[in-house]
Amino acid sequence: MNVRDSEVISGLLDKAGYELIEDEAKADIEILNTCSVRQLAEEKVWSAVGRSKAKIIGIVGCMANNYREAIFEKAPKVDFVVGTADIGKLPKILQEIEKHKGGCFEKKIYETDADFREDEIYHTGFHLDKEHAFVVISEGCENFCSYCVVPYVRGKLRSRDYNDILKEIRGDIDAGITKVTLLGQNVNAYRWIEKNVNFIQLLKMVNEIKGLKEFGFVTSHPKDTSVELFKAMAELDKLKKYLHLPIQSGSDRILKAMNRGYTRKYYLDLADKYRTIVPNGALTTDIIVGFPGEKELDFQDTYSVVKDVEFNAGFIFKYSIRPHTEATKMVDDVPKEEKERRHALILELQKKISRKKNAKNC
Ligand code: 5AD
Ligand code: SF4
Repeated sequence: MNVRDSEVISGLLDKAGYELIEDEAKADIEILNTCSVRQLAEEKVWSAVGRSKAKIIGIVGCMANNYREAIFEKAPKVDFVVGTADIGKLPKILQEIEKHKGGCFEKKIYETDADFREDEIYHTGFHLDKEHAFVVISEGCENFCSYCVVPYVRGKLRSRDYNDILKEIRGDIDAGITKVTLLGQNVNAYRWIEKNVNFIQLLKMVNEIKGLKEFGFVTSHPKDTSVELFKAMAELDKLKKYLHLPIQSGSDRILKAMNRGYTRKYYLDLADKYRTIVPNGALTTDIIVGFPGEKELDFQDTYSVVKDVEFNAGFIFKYSIRPHTEATKMVDDVPKEEKERRHALILELQKKISRKKNAKNC
């Protein structure tokens, strides 16, 4: 999602006459498009601000929504702070900052209050890859998993008009794109209410687009993932047989505390159905170790899920406390060393499984 947001920002500023350059050290203006999902990502941004030699510095994206004006106190070098839904205002904001830079009253601007984005911002045609395009189908998330900052920094779930999504993809194809990835925090919850178009219907429409060779989607939430989706994946010839389905934990106790809305058994059944309906389909996942209250037995439940499901790949994270979230009310009681041990054990297991599966190419 953030990669696409950076493209959108680049496209808007390119249209406004700014030039994107490779070498950060030579930039007059540096815009840091930030992620708040894990603490480490934020720490890297604070160091990047410290290192920056640019005349104008802006913080854009999740950290802007997370810290708002407090950013100016923590990093006085920063000139502007622009939230995830406000990026369409960037060309105007930059003009304003430039006008006052070096004058008696240097201006600081912060804009973090928009509820949703205007669809036009997706149509600049700017893509880093000449053949592949990321296409946002929905923004925000209202699942409120207890560890996750996304609902607080990206706002309520908002699906885009499917007509506009199809128009964007057709435009991309006219410009030489052949592959597309549909993006959303929870793509399965996509719904264009006015015409009652759901995610599976959208997939069918995308599959019909002339000139498109291949497409995929991320990310799916198990509670909204259905057998109907698997059937569509099996049927639609251009749709990649790839499902990223974060399980987060294999322990029912922890899944409940995470507010994930499913059980270990539900997930295992879903994975079985996927493998039956979409033969040779790849399955990947996300896992968090060291969530508050995670005991050795809970961890063993996660370990055994990884062993049994045999994911093609797994992204393993150590829990870090995130502001605003429900989990801030829980005690972050798994010691750092223990989080590291659990992380290393699952990573090692998953590496072995990935190697085995890649060798078999399944
Ligand atoms: N700590 C660690 N990992 C997290 N993720 C989300 N929030 C946190 C957190 N507070 C992970 C989840 C999610 C992925 C994008 O990041 O596994 O699926
Ligand atoms: Fe965060 Fe949960 Fe929404 Fe994913 S589904 S973005 S983990 S709140």
